[in-house]
Amino acid sequence: MSQPIIRILGIETSCDETAAAIVSDGRVIHSSIVASQVDLHAEYGGVFPELASREHVKAIYPIVESALKQAHLTIDEIDAIAVTQGPGLAGSLVVGVNMAKGLSLASGKPLIGINHLEGHIYSAWLYAIDGNPHQKPRFPIMALLVSGGHSELILVKDHLTYQRLGGTLDDAAGEAFDKIARLLDLSYPGGPSIQKASEGGNPTTFPFPRAKLEGTWDFSFSGVKTSVLRTVESLQEESHPLPIKNLAASFQAAVIDVLVEKTLEAAEEFDVSEIIVAGGVSANQRLREKIISTSSRPVHIPPLSLCTDNAAMIAGAGYFHYIKKDFSPADFDVLPTWPLS
Ligand code: KG4
Ligand code: ZN
Repeated sequence: MSQPIIRILGIETSCDETAAAIVSDGRVIHSSIVASQVDLHAEYGGVFPELASREHVKAIYPIVESALKQAHLTIDEIDAIAVTQGPGLAGSLVVGVNMAKGLSLASGKPLIGINHLEGHIYSAWLYAIDGNPHQKPRFPIMALLVSGGHSELILVKDHLTYQRLGGTLDDAAGEAFDKIARLLDLSYPGGPSIQKASEGGNPTTFPFPRAKLEGTWDFSFSGVKTSVLRTVESLQEESHPLPIKNLAASFQAAVIDVLVEKTLEAAEEFDVSEIIVAGGVSANQRLREKIISTSSRPVHIPPLSLCTDNAAMIAGAGYFHYIKKDFSPADFDVLPTWPLS
């Protein structure tokens, strides 16, 4: 007899995207709605926490309704509600968690609190209902998680079994992109702006440092950031117009080189079968091309729509907890600094 299909409603409000999605069996996306607040935060050059939670409150009901409607499902046809419990902004997380608790209370469906980073990892399993299923990632896996808040190397030994090997000692990779974009007067969010500005730029113009941090699996981006700042200052002192394309391309290359090199070294050291790259920075074209062309192992990188924050990844991860009956108590609280390990 075939297994029943398990449908999970996912909710994500950890940062500046309000999102809801329906995913079946941890892989098939029936609907995925993301309302980005990026335009609102752009004028502050970063996420403004109070504004973010207020916007989540306004958006959450219609987003959840649209996700159900687009999947042609009612809450009664859903098996469980998965919601991002952390890490993230406390005031933002609370909005999603309260919505999930309310829905659970009204419908009797179980609740599953998900780690946002785990969600990013499980984005590698997903495909659209009208798309082609790709091969599932095979364990053990080396996961590079690179977003606005995190840059981590995580050994994924099996489903839901993680060993955090290292992470950034200062800025996350995405944060470094955002800060350098601001320095170069490029728009927020910085990752896509730097990538765009790099097109046609020469990545070898400025040899910005690549911090190796030998003997650890940690990253540091403060050196490259300072080096870009000093270069910009000295060009400005000499009244040179800033070579934005070359600065952007050289900075991007310095960050991406370190991410790729370290991930491949870790993959070798821990003899993993495959690699996953996930999180907002995995949308970066240079990162995608470089790691795929240099890795001897299969590399999974989600399509662009699943790289940045979304709720399909939360629903996807939720499935693997559901089949273990790993549910959260009705009074569970948000965990703004929850590490994945
Ligand atoms: O995963 P995400 O949507 O949110 C967090 O959990 O932080 O990641 C957002 C980050 C931002 O810092 C943004 O600049 C970066 O991902 N990002 C990129 C690109 N697209 C988004 N960084 C580099 N290149 C890109 N194409
Ligand atoms: Zn994220």
